[in-house]
Amino acid sequence: MKTMVITGASSGIGFALMNAWVDHTHVIGVYHPKDDFTFDHPNLKKIPVDLSDPTQASKWMEALPETVDIFVANAGYARYEKNGFDRSAFEAMIQTNALAVIDQYQTMKAKNSQIQFVVMLSAMAFWPLPGYALYASTKSFLDAYFKAIRWEDESDVLRVYPVAVNTAFFETSKQPHTSWLIQDANDVARKITRAIKSHQHTLHTSSLFKWTHRLIPRALNFYLKREQKKYKENFK
Ligand SMILES: NC(=O)c1ccc[n+]([C@@H]2O[C@H](COP(=O)([O-])OP(=O)(O)OC[C@H]3O[C@@H](n4cnc5c(N)ncnc54)[C@H](OP(=O)(O)O)[C@@H]3O)[C@@H](O)[C@H]2O)c1
Repeated sequence: MKTMVITGASSGIGFALMNAWVDHTHVIGVYHPKDDFTFDHPNLKKIPVDLSDPTQASKWMEALPETVDIFVANAGYARYEKNGFDRSAFEAMIQTNALAVIDQYQTMKAKNSQIQFVVMLSAMAFWPLPGYALYASTKSFLDAYFKAIRWEDESDVLRVYPVAVNTAFFETSKQPHTSWLIQDANDVARKITRAIKSHQHTLHTSSLFKWTHRLIPRALNFYLKREQKKYKENFK
């Protein structure tokens, strides 16, 4: 059996992915210590870690088995917020969403150069929305890093770009209005599973969004305008 590590395994996309793999894979589910991660399975081992804490962010990996075949760097969060700069809040987000992931990649690659490494990015890495300037910048940072890594290391990295997914993401971000084009977390997990199995380098979870953005990006401006209007209403 293969061994897979998933961060943020207690909810959303991470939980759906854990569910899709756990019957036939040893899964190490990393979760925030404050979470109530009650799900149990003989193939599941759970590790509580606060990835926003740089002192914990790499230490937990020492306890991982020698061979990890697949690592899914999924944990992350956003804050829907008024333009401004709260340095300590941003440092925690960039630590969780980006620095911890780079640390995970480097540590895991040193243990197993053949590892398949999956990075949970976002369409906002290249198409940021109003209210998410700081969050989008964390995903953009990570995106640029892994695009360069692809050529430097020629490693087996899958970059995943979800659009909106029906998880706790929006509750955590405190976005007061509903997004459009919301995908189901289990569908997203199925697409990620297929992409892992076929060793893809990139996955856009919505083909509609991907092709519209590539072929007629201006067609998406109506949505940016809608989000700008919502931003003004939400923060007036
Ligand atoms: N849902 C979307 O619309 C969407 C769109 C694009 C990209 N994404 C990305 O997809 C990934 C998964 O998000 P999701 O949609 O599945 O949302 P989710 O249900 O909120 O899952 C995120 C997971 O990451 C964990 N996490 C956050 N901060 C952590 C920390 N400091 N230490 C350890 N774990 C931490 C969360 O734990 P807690 O439960 O304690 O918060 C949660 O289990 C994220 O990287 C997100 O940015 C989501």
